[in-house]
Amino acid sequence: MNKPNMSVEIAGIKMKNPVMPASGCFGFGEEYTPYMDLNELGAIVVKSVTMNETAGNPGPRVCETPGGMLNAIGWQNPGADVFIHEKMPFLRQFNTPIIVNLAGKTVKEYAELAARLDEVQGISGIELNISCPNVNEGGVAFGTDPKLAAEVIGAVRSSTKLPLIVKLSPNVTDITVMARAAEEAGADAISLINTFTAIAIDIKTRKPIIGNFTGGLSGPAIKPVALYMTYRVANAVSVPVIGMGGILRAEDAIEFLLAGATAVAVGMGTFVNPTAMPEIIKGIEDYMIENKFDDVHQIIGGLICK
Ligand SMILES: Cc1cc2nc3c(=O)[nH]c(=O)nc-3n(C[C@H](O)[C@H](O)[C@H](O)COP(=O)(O)O)c2cc1C
Repeated sequence: MNKPNMSVEIAGIKMKNPVMPASGCFGFGEEYTPYMDLNELGAIVVKSVTMNETAGNPGPRVCETPGGMLNAIGWQNPGADVFIHEKMPFLRQFNTPIIVNLAGKTVKEYAELAARLDEVQGISGIELNISCPNVNEGGVAFGTDPKLAAEVIGAVRSSTKLPLIVKLSPNVTDITVMARAAEEAGADAISLINTFTAIAIDIKTRKPIIGNFTGGLSGPAIKPVALYMTYRVANAVSVPVIGMGGILRAEDAIEFLLAGATAVAVGMGTFVNPTAMPEIIKGIEDYMIENKFDDVHQIIGGLICK
């Protein structure tokens, strides 16, 4: 059998396979070059970029929990100028689409940053982070109210020609309401899920472990819920969905594809195993060969419900 076709398209972004890093879990890519050829990835999604340099939250910023981890990094990044002038030249070397995750405190900041990125050579798309639970202003506030979400998505949509992926928060009652609002406001694709707001307590000190008090829960602990939300959203909107939450192995990624995701992102899995992504790409290919699928679209949405 010839090699199966693993290429997918998200919002006009052509990807050689459906696997990418989740924002914030791959930095700007530099640290991972000893572990993999970045050309192998379907896309590169960078850490959330804000207009100005952001220091992030006080420590401790991560802690381990059963089946996952809590983090409260809080948008630590060098700001748009450094990203554009120092990180983009490195990223542009690869034959892999670059998706820039952007965040802001106000609608104006989101829109201005989107307009700035619009002029930068080599960016394939924007992922709008309206789902970060670890910041006091902006972030998840936009991602839990459909009206506010529509306002910020609309403003960004009119300030950039780039494909627009909107990243949703699971910290809502019905994620399909947010997904439909995002689609109507101009999202070309939806990515989900960001982390769940959670706490961990040190019983010796009787204090919260995370310096920010709350953190975002990610990893295998959230996978079944992430899968359910991916399934619900993929059936509620007509734009493509990027699924994530607890993907560590190819089997996890295949579950998300079967649930209706057109592509998947690997977050905490990359911390556990720096070569998780190339292994997942190979594992999906092996699964296709074993099951005689010659195109990955034969898996996408292939969940049999009866
Ligand atoms: C340490 C850490 C930092 C993160 N930073 C960001 C970020 O900057 N922007 C963002 O949109 N999501 C961020 N996330 C959320 C991930 O992109 C992803 O949505 C979430 O972790 C679920 O996937 P996972 O279970 O595979 O980790 C971060 C997650 C972790 C664990």
